[in-house]
Amino acid sequence: MCRARCLLLCLLLSMAACSTGEPVNNTATYEAELVQDSGVVIGDQDQIDGGFSSLDGMLQWAIGHSDPAELKESAQDVKRLSPDELQRRQLELKELLEKLKTPSDAGLMQIAIADLRNSSLSLEDRHRALEELLILVEPIDNANDLSKLGGLSVVVEELNHSDPDVRRLSAWVLGKASQNNPFVQHQVLQLGALPTLLKMMNSSFVEEAVKALYAVSTVIRNNIAGQHMFYAENGHIMLQDVMNNSSMDIRLRRKAVFLVGDLAQCQLENTERSELPFLSDGLFVKSVVDLIASADLDLQEKALEAIKSLVQLKSAEPRVLGDICGLEGALERMKVQLQESMADEYKRDYAADVESLRVEVESIFRTRLQTSMIGGPSNVQKQ
Ligand SMILES: *[C@@H]1O[C@H](CO)[C@@H](O)[C@H](O)[C@H]1NC(C)=O
Ligand SMILES: *[C@@H]1O[C@H](CO)[C@@H](O)[C@H](O)[C@H]1NC(C)=O
Ligand SMILES: *[C@@H]1O[C@H](CO)[C@@H](O)[C@H](O)[C@H]1NC(C)=O
Ligand SMILES: *[C@@H]1O[C@H](CO)[C@@H](O)[C@H](O)[C@H]1NC(C)=O
Ligand SMILES: *[C@@H]1O[C@H](CO)[C@@H](O)[C@H](O)[C@H]1NC(C)=O
Ligand SMILES: *[C@@H]1O[C@H](CO)[C@@H](O)[C@H](O)[C@H]1NC(C)=O
Repeated sequence: MCRARCLLLCLLLSMAACSTGEPVNNTATYEAELVQDSGVVIGDQDQIDGGFSSLDGMLQWAIGHSDPAELKESAQDVKRLSPDELQRRQLELKELLEKLKTPSDAGLMQIAIADLRNSSLSLEDRHRALEELLILVEPIDNANDLSKLGGLSVVVEELNHSDPDVRRLSAWVLGKASQNNPFVQHQVLQLGALPTLLKMMNSSFVEEAVKALYAVSTVIRNNIAGQHMFYAENGHIMLQDVMNNSSMDIRLRRKAVFLVGDLAQCQLENTERSELPFLSDGLFVKSVVDLIASADLDLQEKALEAIKSLVQLKSAEPRVLGDICGLEGALERMKVQLQESMADEYKRDYAADVESLRVEVESIFRTRLQTSMIGGPSNVQKQ
């Protein structure tokens, strides 16, 4: 590694020599000259993510990190090169430098953030900056860097922009950055984005509502504090609105019921935590149960998955599930509907999978119902 670096430095030095028409002589002299010429003191900043902000930065770093003895030896190697060979190496080096000048991801994010902060930026460029961030935040380290660079607060502010596409893209960036990332989730919640995202779910611009719900889901996923904030902001009522309304966009409805299932699952995995009350509320659960009569197989499946978890919650009342939610009847009707779907060659396999899930849910529900009728809650606990 050091050898390669020394050689690189020597080639750089010989390039400098060629350009001034002088032969390569004393390395130390060149070192001194180069450092003097640039007049810049180099800090760690020049080396973010292995990228260099300038050619000077790279040179100084190379000089600072090279062993003088090895440097001298490499300089001798360079001196032995024929003029042709030297020229070829110099060309290679030029190409290498071009590549090294490509900014790092952190550098690109800094540019995008600076653009978003510029209030005179055109709408088109604003969209472009957000689209770039959307790609950049995919790796978890970059998402963390976006936060450290102060980018999250800039994007959160964009949620309030007057242009719906800016709002849509901002929600998307925040959603992606929060995915499986407790650190970013925490920052986004701290910045107060959740109430704004919930409001955006009401947007008449469907694409905005879809991305807002996506962001809400990733921000509170497996995040207990976020889930309580969601409840405090009446997020569950928003979900119910979406699930209840069959004229809503199907993507929104699928995402809403998926989130319900996710919340219930998280609850099952964290039994020591107090349950979110709406998950066992009869009318809320009814909104989920009603979805299994939907004509959309994907929506039906997601509703069933959610019910499978909801039914297992400690606070779920089997009688409420039966009487208020009409779970048994709904499962029966679904069975008939799925049998019809299974007759369709194109839907057969999917419908068969959903049917086996349905049978499983029915069985879990029956067991709970029986247990509650025989011995009440004390018996449930003995299981
Ligand atoms: C290197 O430079 C010194 C003066 O700084 C000179 O005396 C010497 O002859 C040079 N050596 C070569 C190999 O050119
Ligand atoms: C802000 O954006 C405008 C329009 O693109 C540009 O002319 C201006 O230089 C930018 N300002 C800064 C500080 O980058
Ligand atoms: C958006 O604007 C509203 C009203 O001006 C404000 O209450 C809210 O905090 C803002 N949201 C964000 C995320 O900046
Ligand atoms: C969404 O719209 C509904 C009905 O239009 C309204 O009751 C509710 O307060 C709105 N929610 C938010 C968060 O703005
Ligand atoms: C959704 O529908 C259920 C009944 O299916 C009803 O009780 C509830 O009030 C509705 N909720 C909303 C928010 O519209
Ligand atoms: C149902 O959704 C449609 C489309 O978003 C909307 O126009 C309508 O007002 C909603 N209905 C209710 C009862 O909220």
